[in-house]
Amino acid sequence: MKIIACYSNKGGVGKTASAVNLAHLMAQSGQKVLLCDLDPQGASAFYFRLKPAKKLTEDSFFTDHDKLLKAIKGSDYENLDVLPANMDFRDFDIFLSRLAKGHGALKKTLKSVKKDYDIVLLDCPPTISMLSESVFSCADKVIVPVIPSTLSERTLEQLLDFFTQHKLEKSKILAFFSMVQVSKKLHLDTMQRLGEQHADMLLSTYIPFSSHIERMGVNRAPATDFAKATPAAQHYLDLWRELVTRI
Ligand SMILES: Nc1ncnc2c1ncn2[C@@H]1O[C@H](COP(=O)(O)OP(=O)(O)O)[C@@H](O)[C@H]1O
Ligand SMILES: [Mg+2]
Repeated sequence: MKIIACYSNKGGVGKTASAVNLAHLMAQSGQKVLLCDLDPQGASAFYFRLKPAKKLTEDSFFTDHDKLLKAIKGSDYENLDVLPANMDFRDFDIFLSRLAKGHGALKKTLKSVKKDYDIVLLDCPPTISMLSESVFSCADKVIVPVIPSTLSERTLEQLLDFFTQHKLEKSKILAFFSMVQVSKKLHLDTMQRLGEQHADMLLSTYIPFSSHIERMGVNRAPATDFAKATPAAQHYLDLWRELVTRI
């Protein structure tokens, strides 16, 4: 089982949109996928028309295997299950910081679903915290959407610094450009510059800014389903194909 975290320490960069579309494409390609929503806002499950996991507290998420399994729901798509988040998930950090081995807690939890899934995709909240450290430690790859603009670039540098300071494996990080508008010179210039600086970690596929992706909230489905013939869906498919070569 591979664990892929969709992560950025910045909000609104396309983590959830990417996690939802990639989970759908992975499942379509025959992989058994669990999309695990770690963000208390619960957007991933919302996109799949699922309700928040009511009885799953921060404690039971990490310590009660049966409750965790019961909270996992099937989606409308073959091979794709979702573990919805709820507002209790906002306390993950406090809970993990009280544990002696908080860093390893997520890995231990996910071990309990190891035999059921080929891929667990984690939709992460935009924090650098104990939970993210637990994510970085258990993930095989950390995929990071980056809007090619100044603040998003800055957060990528902060993430790289964090990995250096905490002696984490930088080779886990795979970044890709998100919400790209090729008509903007700033986007093109940033993509070229970062592409030269971080050639090893930057994927060559980018996700364009797309009204179809924005409409996922209205349609409550992956764009790779309801808008499968559009360039946005094709870019997600290309992203998944490129990821396969790096996992
Ligand atoms: N490629 C895209 N093009 C246009 N809008 C996008 C794109 N990706 C995400 N969005 C929109 O931007 C907002 C933030 O995206 P989201 O995936 O929720 O970000 P995050 O999970 O990083 O906070 C949402 O309203 C979403 O619909
Ligand atoms: Mg999100």
